[in-house]
Amino acid sequence: MAVGSGSGKLILFGEHFVVFGLPAIVSAIGSKTVASIEFKDSPGWQVEDNRPETLGYKKEKFSQQKASIDLILKAAGVDVSKKGIKIVLGGDLQAASGVGASAASCAAIARALNDLYSLKLDNRKINELAFEGEKGYHGTPSGIDNTAAVFGGLLVFKKDLQLGKNSIELIKARKPVEVVVGNTGLTSDTKFVVGEVKKLKEENPVKFNEAVKKYQRLLISARVSIEQGDWKKAGGLLDENHALLQQLAVSCKELDLLVDTARQAGAFGAKMTGTGRGGLMFALTPGKQLQDKVLDAVKLQGFEAFATTIG
Ligand code: MEV
Repeated sequence: MAVGSGSGKLILFGEHFVVFGLPAIVSAIGSKTVASIEFKDSPGWQVEDNRPETLGYKKEKFSQQKASIDLILKAAGVDVSKKGIKIVLGGDLQAASGVGASAASCAAIARALNDLYSLKLDNRKINELAFEGEKGYHGTPSGIDNTAAVFGGLLVFKKDLQLGKNSIELIKARKPVEVVVGNTGLTSDTKFVVGEVKKLKEENPVKFNEAVKKYQRLLISARVSIEQGDWKKAGGLLDENHALLQQLAVSCKELDLLVDTARQAGAFGAKMTGTGRGGLMFALTPGKQLQDKVLDAVKLQGFEAFATTIG
């Protein structure tokens, strides 16, 4: 049996903007998806999905998951028409919108295939396979989620819009910082929401370009504040980034409630993360005491939440 894993992620700054070639900052989180793959006697592939999930997520994503696995197998040049394979997905990463669940499973499957068929792929190639798999879910992913899933760490990612080499820069925070992640419990469709933002850009270019300009200014300070561990400053910038995402109409009332709850409980800043219109919010809560306080406040509102660190 061959095994591979992929990390979950939180986009700290720049989801949606990254689709249009702007840099974004992403952090892998400790939770992972693990894929175990073995040969079976019958042809074709089958999947047993044992990942913990937000209710309904796996069912909603099943047809996209099928398309994604076909794309990964094709990109890997693997033929399962005679000797088939069984893929078992597990690990501690919750299958939910916003945490890079699809990318983590693509990376895990790509790694396990690499092992099973002795493909001798390096991380760059694994990332290419995971990116192909992401297309099954997203249509036209930027590549940020699979890059975080494969390489881990804290990254500044910039998509090359000419489909050349994306820029991936590893950065460092002075030390890891506590965050709280709150889950709306709603599964979102990235392809659809990204399409909505494209529509807004076409219909209202002035509004879109204003948001882009504000984001560009914000991102420069965001990177410096993370590298210097200036969490007060970073928190304020998270709030600003959330406001820009509201202007792009990708937040929703549940995400706004989560963000407000976290801020009122003392978080240094909070924003939605990932696709939006459901999925996750994360709040910057330096120190265990503040993290616990914000975690309790979010749970008290009736949302699922967990504590982790970034950077
Ligand atoms: C989804 O995690 C992030 C988006 O920016 C889409 C993408 O980058 O492909 C919304």
